Amino acid sequence: MKHYIQFTILFFNCFIFSCQPSDKNALTHDEIRDLAIQRGNLISEKTQMVLGSKLKSVVQNEGIPQALKYCNVNAYPIVDSLQTIYHAKIRRASHKTRNLSDTPDKMEQEIIDGYIKAIQKGETPSVEIVLGKKEVHYFKPIILSAALCLNCHGKIGSEITEENYEVIKALYTEDNATGHEMGDLRGIWSIQFERDSFQKNDVL
Ligand code: HEC
Repeated sequence: MKHYIQFTILFFNCFIFSCQPSDKNALTHDEIRDLAIQRGNLISEKTQMVLGSKLKSVVQNEGIPQALKYCNVNAYPIVDSLQTIYHAKIRRASHKTRNLSDTPDKMEQEIIDGYIKAIQKGETPSVEIVLGKKEVHYFKPIILSAALCLNCHGKIGSEITEENYEVIKALYTEDNATGHEMGDLRGIWSIQFERDSFQKNDVL
């Protein structure tokens, strides 16, 4: 009888644990955080590279008005592919929006406020990860660090010609994305991943 009970307990233990194979594959918070940083960096760097080189070539070869549509992440098919591959939602948000759909939500606004404070203190703002129950948020500062950007985000009348600003204003009636200087926070990358999409042995 004693053996029978022991065997039954053993059997049920095995049964219960074998029903939870996911435990073995569960990632710790730190592991998810590291993977999210790698994935977010890869996505934001790739997108920024494609966007930056296209903007540059269109500004040089065709002019500012023609280049306006290329400072929108949704204009790039690569963004759609990255969203599918990584189960991600990719967007940018800003405290000084041109496109109102880039208006920050509460969490994004808190991150932006933190970045602005860091810059004011002379610190370098860096990537932040917020772990939710079902999702993982990646945030990264977008610092205005190329003279190219001033053509459309700098001072009106000097860096942005009056003529070009009329075109911008006609497209974005509530534009607030001017007056920037080099080194300013222009906005943030805001990328949301599904928490379940991170697996053990993920390459990225
Ligand atoms: C040819 C003009 C032009 C140049 C050059 C340009 N932008 Fe933009 N930028 C725009 C326009 C137009 C939008 C709004 C796009 C949209 O409709 O989503 C925008 C939007 C943005 C946004 C999203 C927030 C918002 O205001 O809606 C960020 C961030 C941004 N630009 C950063 C940059 C940076 C950094 C550079 C330099 C690498 C740059 N831009 C160069 C025209 C430009």
